[in-house]
Amino acid sequence: MGAVVGLLLLLIGVSHGLETSCDGRKNGAQCYGALGGTVNLQLMDSASEIFRYEWSNKSTIILIGSKNNIRSNVISSRSVFTPSNGTFRINDLSRNDNGEYKLKMENADLENLGERTLHLSVQAPVSSVLLVSECLQGEMRVSCSSVGGDHPQYNWTLDGRELTDDELLSGNTESENITLKADVSGYLVCSVRNDVSDVCGSTINNCTSSNGTQKWVHESSDTVCNKPTTTSTTSTVGKETSATPSTNITSSNQTDTSGRDDSW
Ligand SMILES: *[C@@H]1O[C@H](CO)[C@@H](O)[C@H](O)[C@H]1NC(C)=O
Ligand SMILES: *[C@@H]1O[C@H](CO)[C@@H](O)[C@H](O)[C@H]1NC(C)=O
Ligand SMILES: *[C@@H]1O[C@H](CO)[C@@H](O)[C@H](O)[C@H]1NC(C)=O
Repeated sequence: MGAVVGLLLLLIGVSHGLETSCDGRKNGAQCYGALGGTVNLQLMDSASEIFRYEWSNKSTIILIGSKNNIRSNVISSRSVFTPSNGTFRINDLSRNDNGEYKLKMENADLENLGERTLHLSVQAPVSSVLLVSECLQGEMRVSCSSVGGDHPQYNWTLDGRELTDDELLSGNTESENITLKADVSGYLVCSVRNDVSDVCGSTINNCTSSNGTQKWVHESSDTVCNKPTTTSTTSTVGKETSATPSTNITSSNQTDTSGRDDSW
């Protein structure tokens, strides 16, 4: 039994500067921020006509304002509230920012104009993805592991489309580990995402010719995810056309950890 393990790929740097936005105007909104990143929370349409408003978490009144005047902001060193568009921008998010927040608004007679809550969840972004593959009698077992991310969700594609049950001996398109049937080959991508990031790794599945011999396929390419990181809305890459992967077939069982570090 010549099982060979190929150690692969692939990572992108998304760990700092991640920015997310959330519409908190609806009561009970669920918002996400990246650990160390920035979140833009829209608390109201505009504060310019609201006589008094305050935004607090369970223990602290964070922001107090009146129309265009900000009376106090206890996190002013890392945040900016813009009354004209009702947006609170908070930088350098930490896990302490997790939790429920409440907005209260009052008119000049100090009558309650309404209250609403939002829930902020700060997650560590997925920082890299590693594919480990193993050929055995033509079948390919591939394991997709991610580094850094909270609540990672996995998704596999082959040549730009979802894997089908017919192609899988074990696992499904949302498994961390899958085994492909012997006659299945193509460009295999594992995407790992959570609410604040989306990172993927890829390899060419080609165990078919190995017949249990010492051979594995190693490919290094630019990262190609279905969706770029949160801040970039320029393109949606559906199929992997941008990357021109250089394929290298190595007939040894060495371990290669090469990969590229591409920041968006
Ligand atoms: C996937 O495979 C890896 C490495 O073989 C293992 O550590 C991990 O527990 C597996 N995960 C699942 C969900 O089976
Ligand atoms: C692959 O293995 C099968 C059974 O183990 C054998 O019959 C076949 O000849 C082998 N093919 C090659 C190309 O070595
Ligand atoms: C394959 O690897 C060899 C040596 O490791 C290198 O010289 C060659 O350029 C590589 N080919 C490709 C297509 O990357």
